[in-house]
Amino acid sequence: MKDEVAATFGWFPPSPRVVIGHQWAAAVVREVGDAHALKVENDFPTPQIKPGQVIVKNQYAGINFIDTYHRKGLYPRDLPFVGGQEGGGIVAAVSDEAAAEGIKVGDPVAYSVFGTYAQYTAVPASKLLPVPEGVGLDVATSCVVQGLTAHYLTTSAHADLIKPGEWCLIHGVGGGTCQWAAQMAKLRGFKVIGTCSKGKADIAKTLGCDELIVLNEVEGASYEDYESVDIVARVMEVTEGKGCKAVIDGIGKSTVDISINSLAHRGIFVSFGNASGAVPAFPVLRLIGKSAYVTRPKLLDYTVDRAELVWRANEVFGWLKEGKLNVSVDRCFPLDEAAEGHLYLEAGKSKGKVLYQID
Ligand SMILES: NC(=O)c1ccc[n+]([C@@H]2O[C@H](COP(=O)([O-])OP(=O)(O)OC[C@H]3O[C@@H](n4cnc5c(N)ncnc54)[C@H](OP(=O)(O)O)[C@@H]3O)[C@@H](O)[C@H]2O)c1
Repeated sequence: MKDEVAATFGWFPPSPRVVIGHQWAAAVVREVGDAHALKVENDFPTPQIKPGQVIVKNQYAGINFIDTYHRKGLYPRDLPFVGGQEGGGIVAAVSDEAAAEGIKVGDPVAYSVFGTYAQYTAVPASKLLPVPEGVGLDVATSCVVQGLTAHYLTTSAHADLIKPGEWCLIHGVGGGTCQWAAQMAKLRGFKVIGTCSKGKADIAKTLGCDELIVLNEVEGASYEDYESVDIVARVMEVTEGKGCKAVIDGIGKSTVDISINSLAHRGIFVSFGNASGAVPAFPVLRLIGKSAYVTRPKLLDYTVDRAELVWRANEVFGWLKEGKLNVSVDRCFPLDEAAEGHLYLEAGKSKGKVLYQID
């Protein structure tokens, strides 16, 4: 069975050049299902380095909603697979091609490729983000998906339909991506209305939102009850009846109507996620009332080449170094507790980034 995993991902017995041990621990999905479908296996072969790659010894792996969609089959992947797509650690081995680009053993790096819930990951040099001094590896790892997503959401996905000084509505600012997004929207000069649940209001209040709409939690859960406050009425009151030129929404099913109804004329609904479930189909004619725009973007399309990836990362790392962004790492689970990490995220309990710490 393990050979199947090796074959699927092109990982083969270690080459003599890679002197990092012969087995590595990884959290693997062999059959899609609930969080317990993610099982830790302690005897994987180390990846063999290929031309252009480095081997990273991971210290952290980010846990993201997309990992749960892969695990349960909502976004299908070939089985079996090692979970995760966000990692941070120290370069442990370097190919000649990567060395020629100046990458050295011992460099701290963060990156996004499949298979980060593991002690070692083979990563193309073109995907590496060198972590600058003064930025912790935990924060740098948190930046790769949520930080870069927040960057493209507040910089590019709105297609410049919102200008500095105009209103932006951001849902779930107590959560991971939108804690970053609220702060970056302010850095871009937008006026921000954030929504969050009562339990996350303490964090949300630190983000600099011009207006915070605090909602009750769904009974028995840790996430917002979007019907507990008339958000659209409050948005219209705050914006003096104009609505928001951009709405950034990673909640999905529970908020789609609120988002569209909160738009200003020629505003844009940026629907980037489904924390509460997939957005149901709706007729395009629904947009005619305000000649509104809708986009359903993804990070990959906003980091299309190395130049774009590095530009976004440098701007985010720069803000971090200057103290302009506060990033909260909420919980770190040991990789051995892989299922618990997914359960925590899916319960909507996270107040920021959730990571695995990897020995
Ligand atoms: N398109 C892209 O490029 C991209 C990139 C990254 C993430 N995403 C997607 O965006 C969504 C949010 O990701 P994230 O990383 O920000 O997640 P996160 O850190 O867990 O934040 C999501 C927030 O959603 C809220 N929520 C509302 N209803 C929920 C429910 N039924 N279950 C769980 N949480 C609920 C929770 O906050 P409250 O307590 O305040 O309600 C939670 O903190 C996910 O669907 C993810 O896949 C998309």
